Amino acid sequence: MQAIDRSPFESGMSRSQNSFLPCVPPLPACHIPPAAQTPGVKVLVTAGPTREPIDPVRFLTNRSSGKMGYTLAGAFVHEGHSVLLVSGPTNLDVPENVDFIPVETAAEMHDVVSKHIGRMDIAVFAAAVADYTPASVQPQKIKKSGDTLTLELVRTADILGSARQSFGFRGTLVGFAAETENLEANARDKLVRKHCDLVIANDVSQPGIGFDSDHNQVLLVYPDRTESLPAASKHELSLQLVDAIVALKKLMVES
Ligand code: CTP
Repeated sequence: MQAIDRSPFESGMSRSQNSFLPCVPPLPACHIPPAAQTPGVKVLVTAGPTREPIDPVRFLTNRSSGKMGYTLAGAFVHEGHSVLLVSGPTNLDVPENVDFIPVETAAEMHDVVSKHIGRMDIAVFAAAVADYTPASVQPQKIKKSGDTLTLELVRTADILGSARQSFGFRGTLVGFAAETENLEANARDKLVRKHCDLVIANDVSQPGIGFDSDHNQVLLVYPDRTESLPAASKHELSLQLVDAIVALKKLMVES
């Protein structure tokens, strides 16, 4: 395995202690010849769901397990890159040698990303961020009263959508699109709307892939083309994605 060129991330963040994901076998020996690697690439990965509080005992969340983002973070480190993983709550162990900042809400993820993205070469947004959050958090547990209860929700900030204009990020920007219909068209719309260099799209209506699964099948949607990767474990897929993302970064630097 390559020596890891670790950038000194700011103090105050916890370090991972555990091995790569518990649900997947260890990665094989480094599959890219050392000479072909791009040393010292700094990567930010967002992962997991966010948790939007309603009152002290309830929250809104979604079915994201975080597996894709965590596996990708581990694969980047395996290939010799340094990674900061910003994640909502999951049951996963943080991959070895990945710097880690845990967050709960979309607003917290937004703040952490805004603070750290400036020194990154690549940013990969795999988190399933809540699009809406309760307009206010009740200080006490909401007691049941009528037959219906209406919650007022307000839009969260689009973190990926803020990367270029608000955060001024100039590196390689990669988003994810989890769709149930019109996969390529919806992903391409996100690519343009959020100023990405690549959107990794998966059809979450297909059984056995995507959310909470160890497998995934994705389309790589670039500004000028679309590539389909065959179904694979998130583990194998993450190595292919790292290759594709690092190759894209190299192309952008050269052009
Ligand atoms: N994303 C983000 N911040 C948000 C919402 C989404 O950073 N508040 C990122 C996700 O991490 C992902 C990409 O944006 O990389 C696509 O997320 P998605 O929720 O599918 O996109 P939306 O633009 O919200 O589209 P939709 O109308 O399908 O919800």
